[in-house]
Amino acid sequence: MSKPVLIIEMDPAELNRWRQRIESRGFFSETVFAGDLAQATQLWAETDFRVVILGQHVSSAEDTAILDRLAAKNSASLVLVFRDAELFQKPILFRGRPCPSLATHLQGETLEWAIRSALLLDDWRQNRRLTTLMERMTRLPSIPSLYVEVCQKLQSSESSLEDVAVHISHDLAMCATLLRIVNSTAFALARQITTAFEAVMFLGAAQTKSLILFSQLFSKFNGSKARSFSMDEFWLHSVGVANIARWIAREETGDITHGDEAYTAGLLHDVGRLLLADNLPELTDRIAAGAAGKGKPVWQSEQEVLGATHAEIGAYLLANWGLPYPILDAIGYHHNPQQSAPDGFTTLTAVHAANVLDYEKRFDAASRATKTVDTAYLRSIFTDDPMIKWRSLAGITTSG
Ligand SMILES: [Fe+2]
Ligand SMILES: [Fe+2]
Repeated sequence: MSKPVLIIEMDPAELNRWRQRIESRGFFSETVFAGDLAQATQLWAETDFRVVILGQHVSSAEDTAILDRLAAKNSASLVLVFRDAELFQKPILFRGRPCPSLATHLQGETLEWAIRSALLLDDWRQNRRLTTLMERMTRLPSIPSLYVEVCQKLQSSESSLEDVAVHISHDLAMCATLLRIVNSTAFALARQITTAFEAVMFLGAAQTKSLILFSQLFSKFNGSKARSFSMDEFWLHSVGVANIARWIAREETGDITHGDEAYTAGLLHDVGRLLLADNLPELTDRIAAGAAGKGKPVWQSEQEVLGATHAEIGAYLLANWGLPYPILDAIGYHHNPQQSAPDGFTTLTAVHAANVLDYEKRFDAASRATKTVDTAYLRSIFTDDPMIKWRSLAGITTSG
């Protein structure tokens, strides 16, 4: 029998707090708790756990002993170590690099997200074809340092958005990219923005962060090695989907933060395409030609040929960088949203629809024939077809 989560914490009061955190959120009802090593050993002798969380009163020696025993058993998929109000993913998961990802403050939702992210990663890690494919990609970046620095500055109570703007202004390439984005037609500004400082003030913290991540990924890859891949088109599509996803999320939830999250997910949703084009250009061209020949979506050809899609590839990379669960879910399932856990309207819904609406906005019906929404999925969430309203939000006036 397999239970998803085991929480080990040696301090009884703290273990009780864990229990309350889990129970108050009403998720992962199968979670079990162990107050010492003997109890934990007995529990995992009976059950395979997908996620093991070590509380803050588990000493480093106990921590090592637990990891050794789990490694010997080869069952627990992920171990999250709770230290100083943050969760760290302990085992080396990804191409031999230790990753301090899933680092997140353990309040309310984020605990649920950390566990859900871990379970998502676990699902993907069990897809041997996906992990083998990732290993074939020799050009995979580590998390961009400017992004980490900006996140740290934004988290610090001593730094302001102005400080972030000054920090970014030292990176000339990044300044140029931010200016290009804010002055693009997507923002329809009445006047040109000419400095990084102004750009950051205009964009705000959340958008600045996601644009830094996107631009740094964009600048590190050379997708044009694949003839079927256009860097300009990729850039236009990513920014277009980001904007439409934000409009949809704000419309449906009335929440600016949700809109920002949808923007980030939209911006990064096709990053796996860039990884494939850069690392495996010939295969990328073969897949594109095969899809065009059969008149089917590229992601379906990827699934057939590679056993994984660009959506999972991108999400897998970003999961290892610790991006939050709703963004990973939206990226990983943007073509097949019904594969995700049913949850009503989420960031995934916004990105799934925005991906199609961006093509509707920029291409005629014949050239976007394979780009369609999953109507059964939308019908499971809405009584009326939301695409009519969303088309008008996206500024699409004809069904063209
Ligand atoms: Fe895609
Ligand atoms: Fe896309």
